[in-house]
Order: sequence, then C-alpha cells, then structure tokens
Amino acid sequence: MRPKISVNTINAAFNKLLDNRTLLLDATASGNLRVLISLLGPAYRGLIQQRGKSESATDIKLNSPAHFDWHYKREHPEMKRLTEIAKISQWNATTDIDWLQEVDFFDPSKPLLIEEFHPASTLPIWSKLTFEERAAQIRLLLSWLLSQFLHGEQGALFAAAQTTQSVPWLDAKLYGSTQVVDEGRHVEVFHTYLTKKLEKLYEINDNLYVVIDALMSDSRWDVKFLGMQIMIEGLALGAFGTIRQISGEPLLKELLRYVITDEARHVHYGVLALQQFYTTELSEKERRNREDWAFEMSLLLRNRFLMHELYDEFYAHHLSRAAWDKLVLKSKMMNSFRKTMFKRIIPNLKRIGLLSNRIRSHYEKIGLLAFENSKAAPELSVTELLDN
Ligand SMILES: [Fe+2]
Ligand SMILES: [Fe+2]
Repeated sequence: MRPKISVNTINAAFNKLLDNRTLLLDATASGNLRVLISLLGPAYRGLIQQRGKSESATDIKLNSPAHFDWHYKREHPEMKRLTEIAKISQWNATTDIDWLQEVDFFDPSKPLLIEEFHPASTLPIWSKLTFEERAAQIRLLLSWLLSQFLHGEQGALFAAAQTTQSVPWLDAKLYGSTQVVDEGRHVEVFHTYLTKKLEKLYEINDNLYVVIDALMSDSRWDVKFLGMQIMIEGLALGAFGTIRQISGEPLLKELLRYVITDEARHVHYGVLALQQFYTTELSEKERRNREDWAFEMSLLLRNRFLMHELYDEFYAHHLSRAAWDKLVLKSKMMNSFRKTMFKRIIPNLKRIGLLSNRIRSHYEKIGLLAFENSKAAPELSVTELLDN
C-alpha cells in the first residue's frame, strides 16, 4: 500500500528535497530536458515517497514490448560464442561454495575489510573504539555494501528478464536466458552471506532505488541495457574487485570470484549488443539522448551513495550530515570504488559510441575523462579482472 499524504509526509518530502538538492542539480547537468523528465518519476518515488523503504514490497509498472522472432536466425556469432561460454561456466550457489566455513569477525589475519576503508576511520572517535568495536563497525559497513549489491542484483535479475524479451536478435535472447540464471544465483549468494554470516540486511539506499526504478520503468530496451549492462554492472565489477582485493575473509573472496566471472560476461554482452544497435540503428538525435542519459547516470553513480543509513544509525550525534557526506566522498573506499568503476564504464561508453566530442567536456569537468583510454570489457580477461 502507498503511504498516505499528510502534513508530516509533506514536511518529510520538503526535508528530503533539501537533502537531495545536489542530486537535483546533478540531474540538470546535461541540460537535456527529456532526460531530466524521464528521471523525475523515479526520483519522486525514490526520494520523496521512499518506496524502497516505506513498503515491504514494491510493484513498478512496466511498459516494454515482448519482441517475438519467428525466423530464429542465428546472425550474431560473437553472442553465440558467449552463450556457449556461459553454458559451461554455470555453478551452483548451494553446493559449489563451502557455506559451512565459519567467518571469524575478530581474526586480525582475516579482516573483512581494511579499517582505513571505513569513512569514519579518520574521525577522532574511531581511535577511542576498542578492536572489537572497530571490527563490529567494519562488519556493519560490509553489511551495508553487500545489502546494496543484493538490491542491485534483484534489479539485474528483472532487467535481464525484460531485456531478454525485448531485444530484437535471437542470439541476444539466448544469451540473455543464461544471464537471468546468473543473476538469480547472485541474489541467492549475497542474501545467504548477509543473513547467515553477517546477520544484518540494510534497506535499499534511496538513490539506488532511483536508478533501479528509472531502468525498470523505461520502455526502451536499449536504455535498460545501457543502465544495467554498462553502468550498474560496470560499477558492480569495480566494487566487487576492490572488495575481493582488500578482504582477507576466505568465504567472501570465494563467492566474489564466482560472481565476478559471471559479471565480466554480462558487461561484454552489453557492449556487443549496444555497439551494434547504437552504431547502426539509432538516429543522431536518439543517440544524443542516450549519451546525455549515460552522463546523468554517471553523476548519480559517482556522487550519490553516501551511506546515510550508517550515518543515521551511528554518526548523527558526532557530525553534521554535510560533514559526513564530505568524509564519504573523500574516503579511501569511495576513491577506490570510483577509480575502478569508471575505469570500465568510460571506455565502454566510448566503444558503444556514447562519448562524442559534444559530451567529452562534461566528463572532463567532473574528472572522469582520464579513464577513457583504460582497457574496455572485451579486452579485459577474467584473470585481469580478478587481479585488479
Ligand atoms: Fe549480477
Ligand atoms: Fe550481471
């Protein structure tokens, strides 16, 4: 059921608008009115109504066509090859991962994350905490991060199902069917680790809700694809890789290795499909619209995951929200995530034709153009992904 509108709701909405004024400014950065309008509905539902938090389940209305192909032509050999790789790379989240191994949260030789990754680790209050208290804070930080991954994976599961029905080519549909299974498995592993090991599940972050709602409710299959396969998956690959590298917890490292191998295929598939579509089938006006949309998404992903849920729970008495936001944005963790995620996203945008001279200066202004010559997904092997 939707929340009722009352004076309190309006007050809360007003405060939320003030809290999110940078988001509103971000949303006008490309100057593309159509892009801004397409984000207004998701922003209203995510930031004002807080649908991801105020309800235990949310129905998002869909408006995308199911495209049937009666000729069954196999015309995309690279996607066909990727489908074969996906078929032999399947794994079972229940039996291939050793869930019986204990996670010791207080073993300094196997830290969940390095302490400097916690945005609060530079605050004076951090040095007054005992080792056990600091370990507990790190455990909560990891719970927050993995909870957002879990919510993102649920979005990826539905987006994979929707793009499978809408994409025009049979080889893409067959590949998509393997991705649906992969994403279901990712929901399973993150949920199991969160509930059985970390024993804490956080609600969805408001801004992540906005991104997911925008992808679900957009009727254009390629925009769902762009958002999910290039942007969100690029972000996920970056974050999974960083966490796997800095964590000393064997079970977490093991499950991330499996997930990263699947995600690398998904990004590769997204690049193949969109490269074909954007370079051969879109008008220049439509291409520009996608380019602006991708830029707005880059801004959302770059600035908006500020862990307010952790702030409200533990740090609201120690510093203002504005000071917390600054702390998170310049934290070691955020710097590292930003670097690894855009190192993949920006070259992939270039490959699919969404980094024209018109938009490059926008990316340059926010410091992301430096990544344009990094290796894009298809050239990056899984071994490299696991190593960097
Ligand atoms: Fe996934
Ligand atoms: Fe994926």
